[in-house]
Amino acid sequence: MVSVLVVSILLINCTSAKKEKEESQVKEITMKTLSKESIKVQDYIQKDIVIAHRGTTYWAPEETEAAFLWARNIGADYLELDIQMTKDNILVALHDDTLERTTNVSDIFPTIKNPTTNDFTLKELRSLDAGSWFNKANPERARSSFVNLKVLTLQDVIMFAEGYRIKKEYGAPVKEIVNGIWIGKYEYEIDPNDNGNRPGIYVETKHPKLNIEKRLSEQLTTLGWNINTSPKEIETIENKVEIANSNARVILQSFSPESIVNLEKYLPNIPKCFLLWKPDMMGDLKGTYQKEIDFGLKYNVQIIGPSISGEPNNYGELTDPWMAALVHKSGLIIHPYTFDTLEQLTNYKDIVEGVFTNRADLALEFYNRKPEKSPKKILTQLGY
Ligand code: G3P
Ligand code: CA
Repeated sequence: MVSVLVVSILLINCTSAKKEKEESQVKEITMKTLSKESIKVQDYIQKDIVIAHRGTTYWAPEETEAAFLWARNIGADYLELDIQMTKDNILVALHDDTLERTTNVSDIFPTIKNPTTNDFTLKELRSLDAGSWFNKANPERARSSFVNLKVLTLQDVIMFAEGYRIKKEYGAPVKEIVNGIWIGKYEYEIDPNDNGNRPGIYVETKHPKLNIEKRLSEQLTTLGWNINTSPKEIETIENKVEIANSNARVILQSFSPESIVNLEKYLPNIPKCFLLWKPDMMGDLKGTYQKEIDFGLKYNVQIIGPSISGEPNNYGELTDPWMAALVHKSGLIIHPYTFDTLEQLTNYKDIVEGVFTNRADLALEFYNRKPEKSPKKILTQLGY
């Protein structure tokens, strides 16, 4: 017992000595800093923001209407989504490159092997059930209303942020028919259960393919969400989330350097976050981290999005205090992913400016913005 105690004390001493050494080394490093133009864009972004990762992965099937309406009504500042392109060039909200994990694609299209979003038109994607997998994976949080939830478009998510929902008749989405043809779009209606929050969207592009960044820019313009091209005025309510009507209504993010370059080309002056992933950062971590920051500065990102450690994801640690010191020294701010517990929120609270979280309910309470209703009640009130 005594020897275990001695070993533990030695380990703690070694770890804190290592941390002190790393922090003092950072003090000696000279970093490039954010440009004046980037500082202006960074000023658009609020502090201590709660970014609803895929809406939520905990309370509802990720990136579905239930997840995003929940995130809006709970009071998250941003709806986080990943975008992919359909065969008919429509942007949809899906995290994975393939559809098997979060839909019943293998039942509906059994002959297509390794089905990706780009193998299908929007109309085909809307025939999938993107909710039932969640009920099987999480029986304790399952709801019959999650069955047959639809894959969403970027437009759907923006409409939710503006207080709408997909129009339904007898429980089924109403198709938007144009010239007698249905290409997979639905009609919208003002959500009677909307509680007035107007969050922004935090959009992630994966590897650049199919000119997705250009398409994103065109779509944001069409929908009045591109601040470079006469953005629409969105009505907001005092003391509710009002980000949808600000210059930071959209924040862009990517792990891919190529995509960051394209995002800056097609969507300048819009806040951007360069995401970092430990397996991509080989060799000397300090040197690599510095290079990633330099890359971000060169392409006008204002935010670094590193991973955090801890359950349940157990990602590699990229938000140690010395790493945060390096990022802040260059003038960038930090939005790490992904916060699932109060312990994580507590551990990193002094060194981050915002959090990607599957538990916007916990994060809002942590930041003294306790939601008016419980997470379950919000889902029920929304009709789920
Ligand atoms: O966008 C932040 C975080 O979402 C990155 O991880 O894999 O969940 O998209 P991922
Ligand atoms: Ca993401």
